[in-house]
Amino acid sequence: MKDSIRQLIQQALNRLVGEGVLPEGLTPTIQVENTKDKSHGDFASNIAMMLAKPAAMKPRDLAEKIIAALPADEGITKVEIAGPGFLNFFQNSAALAERLEAALADEHLGVRKAGPAQKVVIDLSSPNLAKEMHVGHLRSTIIGDGVGRVLEFLGDEVIRQNHVGDWGTQFGMLLAYLEECPVAAQSELSDLEEFYRAAKKRFDESTEFADRARALVVKLQAGDAECLRLWNRFNDISLSHCQKVYDRLNVRLSPADVRGESAYNDELPGIVDALRDKGLLSESDGAQCVFMDEFKNAEGNPLPVIVQKAGGGYLYATTDLAAMRYRSQVLKADRVLYFVDQRQALHFQMAFEVARRAGFVHPGIQLEHMGFGTMNGADGRPFKTRDGGTVKLIDLLDEAQERAYTLVKGKNADLDEAELRQIARAVGIGAVKYADLSKHRTSDYSFNFEQMLSFEGNTAPYLLYAYTRVASLFRKLGKGVDEIGGQIQLEAEQEQALAAKLAQFGDALNNVGEKGVPHLLCSYLYDLAGLFSSFYEHCPILAADSETRKQSRLRLAALTGRTLKQGLELLGLEPLERM
Ligand code: ARG
Repeated sequence: MKDSIRQLIQQALNRLVGEGVLPEGLTPTIQVENTKDKSHGDFASNIAMMLAKPAAMKPRDLAEKIIAALPADEGITKVEIAGPGFLNFFQNSAALAERLEAALADEHLGVRKAGPAQKVVIDLSSPNLAKEMHVGHLRSTIIGDGVGRVLEFLGDEVIRQNHVGDWGTQFGMLLAYLEECPVAAQSELSDLEEFYRAAKKRFDESTEFADRARALVVKLQAGDAECLRLWNRFNDISLSHCQKVYDRLNVRLSPADVRGESAYNDELPGIVDALRDKGLLSESDGAQCVFMDEFKNAEGNPLPVIVQKAGGGYLYATTDLAAMRYRSQVLKADRVLYFVDQRQALHFQMAFEVARRAGFVHPGIQLEHMGFGTMNGADGRPFKTRDGGTVKLIDLLDEAQERAYTLVKGKNADLDEAELRQIARAVGIGAVKYADLSKHRTSDYSFNFEQMLSFEGNTAPYLLYAYTRVASLFRKLGKGVDEIGGQIQLEAEQEQALAAKLAQFGDALNNVGEKGVPHLLCSYLYDLAGLFSSFYEHCPILAADSETRKQSRLRLAALTGRTLKQGLELLGLEPLERM
């Protein structure tokens, strides 16, 4: 609908240019928004305010001219001027009802991608394998997965890339420890965190051990078979820990999506050579660097992207350049999204620019850093265990599930144990994921079990419960939507409001896909659930006063149920039929 309103406005503007009311050569971005308050219409545009100045007119006067020039459209019943010069569009309920019918008949709920389908690489999760996954990796994993699912639903081809940190000097220390006490090491490897700590302790205490660790890095880099075997074994174990977390989280990541830093090792010398050939490289204190005019520190001194250290070693940025080249040239991505901590923003800005200048990526590629804020504890301070250690993701998920179990059992003592466990999993894991997804990606947020497990407010339990209400309605009826018959008719105010929201599902998903912000889908679903509640309260469904009304309301409920279910699945939550 927004698109067609945009087109109507564009036609009106063209007409006004032809009439000499507007100057030629204007190319405004026409914004059309959904209104909050339906008594002011369904959609609003500020175009008259934007163009008032170039037209040398008062916004309200221009708004009047635009309305007069708008072509007739059967989807719109009237257009009004509001406030300083907004155009408010009222949509036609019959046309809206027809759209909802079409959505109900469509597997994709009538949702289409606004632009052409693309090939999108998503860089997500990407933990360092030397350590256990911790809460810092939760956001990248969950948000990246959510956006990936939405883009897939919109018809994009999504390629997930888990750019794990499987290379670097810490591996020397770990291999030295693995070699030193294979038996102890094996048992400790069930807990990577322990293993890392023990190895680090040896490294700090013994210079002899530290030297051996350094020598092992060199051997590893030179391709020594025994070192590679140990290194592979270590990575396999670490990756299997990650996979357990992904499976628990119901995240679409598998071993096939792993392409770690080490995969680019052979290409790193070529990256440096290519930069040199392009004349982009300069030497600074023996290191090979790229300097770009637009990147300076606070004192105005140029900032380098270092691609090779004085000793010959390559860096994080070098690997990222090789990965960009691979994603552009081999994977043929149209778009690459990096779900990585906001604190790496400058790294990505600079690396993207180097990749473009060096021609490592094709000119049309969209490279976007989807940075995210820090997850803090409930007290707003960095998230730590009571004794100051890092919180392991798996422990956090166990606790969420345990708490959800107690909660659900308290509400539903008569459910059998197996079902209780299943519900506890969906609610507990869902709560952790939803709490993260529903916050704006770039802001920091506090992890709070009480809040995320509440049945009130914008939470997973609330939304999962909202879906079960629709499901139970159809259970009671004993029929599916295909057997209901009739058609949607929008009469009551609550029906209109619910219907208008349902028709916005596609807009919400397109926004999520464009900006990489799943919180928009969360607030959409939260609003939808709220509107369904007031519809449910005010408009009797099974006890409606006529068969046509009953059918219409059931159809609206069915579409709400399918939209909620689809939305929850796109967020990576597990909708339940009852709880
Ligand atoms: N392993 C890195 C870390 O834990 C994140 C990697 C993100 N992806 C990338 N292509 N740089 O900080």
